Amino acid sequence: MKYSYKDYKHLLRLLAIFLLGVGVFLIARALFTPASFGEFGHYRGDSLRENMGFAAEYAGMAACKKCHEAVYTKKSKSKHKGLSCETCHGPALRHSLEPKKEKIVKPGSKDLCHLCHSINSVRRKDFPQVDFKKHNPGEDCLACHDSHDPL
Ligand code: HEC
Ligand code: HEC
Ligand code: HEC
Ligand code: HEC
Repeated sequence: MKYSYKDYKHLLRLLAIFLLGVGVFLIARALFTPASFGEFGHYRGDSLRENMGFAAEYAGMAACKKCHEAVYTKKSKSKHKGLSCETCHGPALRHSLEPKKEKIVKPGSKDLCHLCHSINSVRRKDFPQVDFKKHNPGEDCLACHDSHDPL
């Protein structure tokens, strides 16, 4: 123990550099943290307002019918006849106007089907619901069901 802290000065230098680093971090954080950070949670409050500013622009099913007649006809005779195209494909006004340029969502099946067909006591009892852990787990729903004519 006698010699342990004999040369403590270099430790003080290290401590000074460390404290300087902490100081620089605190100043930088104060300078660069956006004003609305933490308003609602651990994110920028303004990001919510920015996203609310984007208009969801729908074209409506009649527009899709013009160019996708076959899918439209198939779906109108199916169990999914009550669903609008954009329920699954997302708001698609811009795709309808410029289909080659504006890509549209081609949804993956799992999350999409979950949204409406997972077992949920809030749903009507006679609404078709499947237990995703037991109903062909590990397989793609689309391997057996066509989303435009699911039966
Ligand atoms: C003016 C004609 C037109 C209209 C209106 C239109 N589409 Fe399309 N759609 C196309 C064309 C053309 C393609 C192929 C684009 C390509 O592959 O470059 C396409 C492709 C698609 C695809 C496949 C995308 C992919 O990644 O394979 C989906 C899904 C789709 N359209 C859905 C819709 C829906 C839903 C609507 C109604 C909101 C709609 N379309 C309206 C012409 C149209
Ligand atoms: C229940 C959800 C759902 C609805 C409603 C729906 N689609 Fe789709 N659609 C999908 C999924 C999922 C795919 C991807 C299929 C795949 O990858 O096998 C798809 C694929 C497509 C494609 C690409 C070509 C193909 O057949 O794979 C077109 C075009 C399309 N949909 C148009 C439409 C139109 C037009 C409507 C309305 C008349 C519509 N969809 C309604 C889920 C839906
Ligand atoms: C936005 C909600 C919604 C989404 C997303 C959706 N469905 Fe459906 N589905 C429905 C509705 C509504 C019916 C008709 C229920 C009725 O007849 O009471 C239905 C009916 C069905 C049926 C027929 C069941 C029966 O016994 O009549 C099957 C199978 C089915 N869906 C599979 C799928 C698959 C697979 C997906 C994913 C690609 C999917 N659905 C996505 C709403 C949805
Ligand atoms: C290996 C083929 C296969 C796969 C994969 C599959 N299914 Fe099915 N599904 C069937 C068959 C066959 C039926 C009809 C017989 C029955 O009720 O079990 C059915 C019935 C259904 C029904 C109607 C149930 C009812 O009560 O009327 C729904 C909803 C459904 N499937 C959704 C899904 C969803 C969502 C997925 C993906 C997680 C999926 N299926 C994956 C073959 C499949």
